[in-house]
Amino acid sequence: MDTLTALTTRVSSPRLQEPGPNDEQIDMLLRAAIRAPDHGLLRPWRFIVLQGRQRERLGDIMVAHLLEQQPNADRRTQNNAYSKALRAPTIIVAVAEVTEGHKIPVWEQVLAVGASVQNMMLAAYEQGIGAMWRTGALANSDLAKEKLGFAPKDQVVAYLYLGTAASSLKSLPDERPADFIRELP
Ligand SMILES: Cc1cc2nc3c(=O)[nH]c(=O)nc-3n(C[C@H](O)[C@H](O)[C@H](O)COP(=O)(O)O)c2cc1C
Repeated sequence: MDTLTALTTRVSSPRLQEPGPNDEQIDMLLRAAIRAPDHGLLRPWRFIVLQGRQRERLGDIMVAHLLEQQPNADRRTQNNAYSKALRAPTIIVAVAEVTEGHKIPVWEQVLAVGASVQNMMLAAYEQGIGAMWRTGALANSDLAKEKLGFAPKDQVVAYLYLGTAASSLKSLPDERPADFIRELP
């Protein structure tokens, strides 16, 4: 697939199954990630690659976050939270480890990591790997950040779920660039 085709046809794959990307494919995703544009070359991106049983640690974090929010959550709710970490063979957690008080504002550093995630999504799509970018409350949880090895100032940008698409890819929305063009006021 050529780059422009990937750019103009990529879709997310919400349901993912085995097999996940192999080591060589993951390496390619990460190499694409670190070629994202990065104002000031601060290299704010950090990636945690979770596969197989490593995902159970993320499941534990999801349960800890749930219990922080809902201390009385029953066992079934806890199991549901835990199982979210097992919804895909591979999860790459992308975190912006930001530098505060720098002339490059934090929002630009977070955007750079967002660009790195999009690079991974495109590299995945091009290799036939399904990908789904997820965030949710867990992306803003100080407890989750700490358990992932980061500080409250940092920003979890994506839990990038990767694997084999479990259903056919959805059709592209009927949208045109003109829908989003504005004239100068
Ligand atoms: C910053 C960001 C966070 C996202 N978080 C979630 C999420 O938590 N749950 C989810 O289902 N999709 C999430 N998505 C994916 C979007 O739902 C998805 O891209 C959108 O539905 C459009 O689908 P497409 O990627 O196939 O075009 C996120 C996307 C971005 C850019």
